[in-house]
Amino acid sequence: MALPRPFFCLRQLYRTQRASVTWCRLQHTDRSIRIIDLRSDAISKPPQEMREAMMNAEVGDDVFGDDPTVNKLKARVAKMLGKEAALFVPSGTMGNLISIMTHCQGRGLEAIVGDQSHIFLHEQGGMAHIAGVMGSVIKNKPDGTFDITEMKSLIRRRDDIHEPWTRMICLENTHNKCGGRVLPQSFMQEVYEIATENDIIVHLDGSRILNAAVALDIPPSEISQYCHSVQICFSKGLSCPIGSIIAGTNDFIFMAERMRKAVGGAMRQVGILAGAVLYALDNIAPKLIDDHRHARRIAESMLTDKNKIVKIDLDAVDTNIVFGEIIEEGLLAEQFCRRMSDVIGKERVDLGIGISVKMFPYSKKSFRFVLHNNISEEEATLACKKFRYVVEELSDWYSSHQSFREEVSYQ
Ligand SMILES: Cc1ncc(COP(=O)(O)O)c(C=O)c1O
Repeated sequence: MALPRPFFCLRQLYRTQRASVTWCRLQHTDRSIRIIDLRSDAISKPPQEMREAMMNAEVGDDVFGDDPTVNKLKARVAKMLGKEAALFVPSGTMGNLISIMTHCQGRGLEAIVGDQSHIFLHEQGGMAHIAGVMGSVIKNKPDGTFDITEMKSLIRRRDDIHEPWTRMICLENTHNKCGGRVLPQSFMQEVYEIATENDIIVHLDGSRILNAAVALDIPPSEISQYCHSVQICFSKGLSCPIGSIIAGTNDFIFMAERMRKAVGGAMRQVGILAGAVLYALDNIAPKLIDDHRHARRIAESMLTDKNKIVKIDLDAVDTNIVFGEIIEEGLLAEQFCRRMSDVIGKERVDLGIGISVKMFPYSKKSFRFVLHNNISEEEATLACKKFRYVVEELSDWYSSHQSFREEVSYQ
């Protein structure tokens, strides 16, 4: 059976370079290859000092409210987010779910969620199948916001027994699937004011709220002032092995603690985890700005004059997440990502080193890479080298095979 055209083209490319088909094996066995893993900030590993902080953390039973390190962390994060109280939970997904369960006590309730939001796309619809809340989906704009007029039109009247009640609006800041975009403060404020006027709760999935605060150069509490509850995640750019916090009013946290128990998220001597977070807030949070700088540098590195295959909107690079689009018709994002991971042909000689960059294809024609604490200045430079090399190599190859491709498509 004939191979689909893009695979056929890439196979030609590999052959042209006299590369063996051992790329897959190479990357696992050749220790001289530097692997730069940009698949997600969630893959970042706890540094040695964080592990020591964990080992030395004082602990107690957090279900009894006895863990001094957890208590210290809760007080610190509540203050940082400008909220009355906080609760430590195992994950971002559970933090969002508990928040929704807490706000939506009762039946026939609905929450407005963005069609690109993590809550809607990547939490298995827990708001529906566990919390029993209906999602009212609004289209996210590319910058992670949505149309305010449309949002207003989705707010249900409460005097009609046929309709569910709109109880919540969920925002996400930074917005993961929209490329780590930071929501404008004016948007946050407008949503919050409209919600408050209509007796509706705003919950913020602020898994990366610290990235947003760094990008805006404001304290996180200035962002979270425009929401009633917020979830912040420590296992992303902050390199903690696990852990999120939800914050809000005392009443919200009182009820959230009950919900946490119901979903099995109440943990015991978790001071060892809170110790990791306290370390991260002191030592890793101040370095988030480096991740943003590296993300931009890497994005810029591939946009050379020779580039004919990739498009990146640099104005949309706000934080540590970057999306790119493949504009070469014959190339799929999956193939581009694979080529970035491979070390083939004379590349090692040209670059003076074998570099394998890992990242995910996000759709057929788009890919994503994410910077994090484990990527040093030197590794960011290596990633720039590799991106530039591959983009120029593929651009050259596709230009020189233009006539060949036209011939193939003509057949
Ligand atoms: C925006 C956002 N919200 C929530 C989550 C869920 O976090 P967790 O993986 O800790 O459940 C993620 C995870 O990537 C995320 O990016």
